[in-house]
Amino acid sequence: MIIAIDGPAASGKGTLGKTLAAHYGLRHLDTGLLYRAVAKSVLDAGKRPDDEAAAVAAAQALDPSRFNEAVLKSHAVGEAASVVSAIPEVRAALLALQRAFAAKPPGAVLDGRDIGTVICPDADVKIYVTATPEVRARRRAAEYRVQGREIDEAAVLADILKRDERDMSRAAAPLKQASDAHLLDTTHLAIDPAIRAAIDIVEATRAGRGRD
Ligand code: DC
Repeated sequence: MIIAIDGPAASGKGTLGKTLAAHYGLRHLDTGLLYRAVAKSVLDAGKRPDDEAAAVAAAQALDPSRFNEAVLKSHAVGEAASVVSAIPEVRAALLALQRAFAAKPPGAVLDGRDIGTVICPDADVKIYVTATPEVRARRRAAEYRVQGREIDEAAVLADILKRDERDMSRAAAPLKQASDAHLLDTTHLAIDPAIRAAIDIVEATRAGRGRD
């Protein structure tokens, strides 16, 4: 089974992806990490994230076995990832790796922005996770506070709105809900009910297709 989860920044798709994978015994790929690793490599080389040649070279040389998730999850790397991910050749360089991950038995959960639309258009289940920008900013700010960081929630909201705009308006594989994706709006859902709702979507989809 392949489960595709897409959604904007701080929508909770990563947590849902990880939890669904554990629940169904599937492998999990947070595809945002791929773009973050490309961005980090470009920044480390002293280049700008909109330097297409540097970003494409970094994408072609990517080695997921060497990812340091804690470093890749930083705010600065996320911003740069949003920029490198708008470059079509960067996306093309990461396509085969993602499809190969999904195709390996017993299947996988992939989360990102274009999983249901481009990477796995034939996924068994597609979920589009979202929440209002204000709620996503509040959750992201709470995460930062747990890490002991000083936080201006208005600045976090401004960042989220900027990232939404960039990820949704780019020409190459923009973030959008696939026509056959199930919408999961977590604006009024805590994490446990959101997980329950996601499992219900998977179960209903499988039942509808006559699978066990
Ligand atoms: O989900 P994230 O915050 O880790 O993603 C970082 C950036 O990577 C995001 O702003 C857009 C890009 N991205 C993408 O374009 N396609 C994906 N499948 C995953 C992430």
